[in-house]
Amino acid sequence: MIKVIRRIREMKKLSDRVRKRGLTVGFVPTMGYLHEGHLSLVRRARKDCDFVVVSIFVNPIQFGPGEDLKRYPRDFSRDKRLLSGAGVDAIYYPNNEEMYPDGYRTYIYVSGLSDVLCGAARCGHFRGVATVVAKLFNVVKPDITYFGQKDFQQQVIVKRMAGDLDMDVKVVSMPTVREADGLAMSSRNTYLKKSDRAKAAAIYGALKLAKDLVKTGMRSSSKVKAAMLKHMSRSGIKKVDYIAVCDTATLEEKKAIKGKTLIATAAYVGGTRLIDNIVIN
Ligand code: PAJ
Repeated sequence: MIKVIRRIREMKKLSDRVRKRGLTVGFVPTMGYLHEGHLSLVRRARKDCDFVVVSIFVNPIQFGPGEDLKRYPRDFSRDKRLLSGAGVDAIYYPNNEEMYPDGYRTYIYVSGLSDVLCGAARCGHFRGVATVVAKLFNVVKPDITYFGQKDFQQQVIVKRMAGDLDMDVKVVSMPTVREADGLAMSSRNTYLKKSDRAKAAAIYGALKLAKDLVKTGMRSSSKVKAAMLKHMSRSGIKKVDYIAVCDTATLEEKKAIKGKTLIATAAYVGGTRLIDNIVIN
């Protein structure tokens, strides 16, 4: 039977007990409303580790004013069923008061990486992410934790934080899981109307186009970006937040595409902001 744990103290005690027995703890942090992308991380954790914990917590401090905190999709009983089926040992499912009691004052900010790309449009977002992830690490005490490359910047920030703060956790990145037409799976895809859903595939279409252009010799970031923008616009995506060509470690913009390069984009389809990226070598 899968355990559902709502209290910090209880989660810490369970993790201590498991670790004392010499077992490894694998951890997948999520905001719930699970899909195959989440489950791919869970399956990998199940394969690598003796004891698998998944957290479900819609973290209020990573949402800006006017963002979708209130309407973020939630379905705990469905999530629990999926995680049971995947052989997860425990779900850590705290509420806001447990995570941020009155008087809460401490935040983690990973400088240099947090205000570019998605951080430029979502002020304070990555401060909220780094803070909650650090708290979750302290509570769950994982040996290994799993993050998706779909949120590439998040995964870079978490790795940096874990290294900089000497956290005893290995951060593993996992490939993006996609729908049949290439759209990256996301809990937010449920916001898309049918007509928007068809358009959304053009985001990955633009990334694939970029990859093809680089393959055929295009090296100029601005030319690749222009081609991607045109592709999305022709497919009915009119509002693009950013298209970025950057270094995969520093997230600094590159003028020319050389070596390992991240191509990332965020675009609005209907009212929904979607992100995706690819790494090319
Ligand atoms: P959430 O969006 O629920 O995602 C949880 C984890 O699943 C993240 O590591 C994310 O990158 C990964 N993931 C999401 N979609 C994926 C896909 N299509 N393929 C592969 N992995 C995918 O990211 C968060 O929650 C939060 O910011 C969190 C880290 C839990 C902190 O609140």
